[in-house]
Amino acid sequence: MASADGDSGETRLLLATQAEVVAGIDRLFDQLLSVPADPRERLYQAMRHAAIAGGKRLRPLLVRAAGDLFHVDHRVSLRVGAAVEAMHVYSLIHDDLPCMDDDDIRRGKPTVHKAYDEATAVLAGDSLHALAFEWLCDPATSADPFVRSELCCELARAAGPAGMAGGQMMDLAAETSDFDLRTVTRLQQLKTGALIAFSVEAGAILARIPPEGRTPLRGYARDIGLAFQIADDIMDVEGDEALAGKALHKDDAAGKATFVTLMGLERAREQATALVDQAIAHLSGYGEEAALLRAIARYVVERDH
Ligand code: IPE
Ligand code: IPE
Ligand code: MG
Ligand code: MG
Ligand code: MG
Repeated sequence: MASADGDSGETRLLLATQAEVVAGIDRLFDQLLSVPADPRERLYQAMRHAAIAGGKRLRPLLVRAAGDLFHVDHRVSLRVGAAVEAMHVYSLIHDDLPCMDDDDIRRGKPTVHKAYDEATAVLAGDSLHALAFEWLCDPATSADPFVRSELCCELARAAGPAGMAGGQMMDLAAETSDFDLRTVTRLQQLKTGALIAFSVEAGAILARIPPEGRTPLRGYARDIGLAFQIADDIMDVEGDEALAGKALHKDDAAGKATFVTLMGLERAREQATALVDQAIAHLSGYGEEAALLRAIARYVVERDH
């Protein structure tokens, strides 16, 4: 357990690094999504509306923090962070569509289908999904083709039917099925955990750490992924919509099985805290270089948005 001084030092490190990553991601998206002077202009404006200025940028922060363990160049971890954030933003645009959660507000702004229209929102999501891979495949990400191909394969796995999209399908089924805790845990590991796990793994891939050297990081990522989603479910029940920047109180209204509906608020909170402690314990083999990862683990449950 870190001392009180250590804890506040870690918090300062987290806030400073998050501010740097937030600014860096906005700058990179501004460059990578520059608007062409042709009829695709609306598509680019819609992508920019969703991608620029907003969100905690947790996934790019995780790429940076895991990369920092192995001294990965910050410009490189930022680029990979932009790719995973593009994938995440695509998932949010589609998640908010009327055929899914039918939401009007995201990150404190109108959702893309509200600010533009449904067809543009679908295409903006499709485009960000494809761009994530295009950016990873670019030699600017890594001169090593094996690194680029592993990043692409792992992101594809994390986003597809064995990851986020599969979890979203299970999430829809959770409104009409009697899922038990085991099934909800699996649902959340796919829906939210997979992209978070990719973000952590990406730091190790960039540093060419072989899979057998990634075990502690994988344990850390699994635990914070679950803790993160429990915190999202708790926020849905007792969060502040103005702070969250999105509509809340939707899970119960939809009759959806979540950690909170299955365990109750108190046990869900205890479970999230236990997962954070366990995540930090996985990092016991690392020293100061893992301070940021430890701070992020605490942040995923202490956040208010
Ligand atoms: C929201 O993700 C959707 C979930 C996976 C629960 P975040 O809470 O990371 O949202 P942003 O990126 O900060 O807006
Ligand atoms: C969405 O989960 C997770 C994604 C893969 C986009 P939620 O539907 O719970 O996310 P919010 O609450 O709308 O942010
Ligand atoms: Mg949803
Ligand atoms: Mg939603
Ligand atoms: Mg939610």
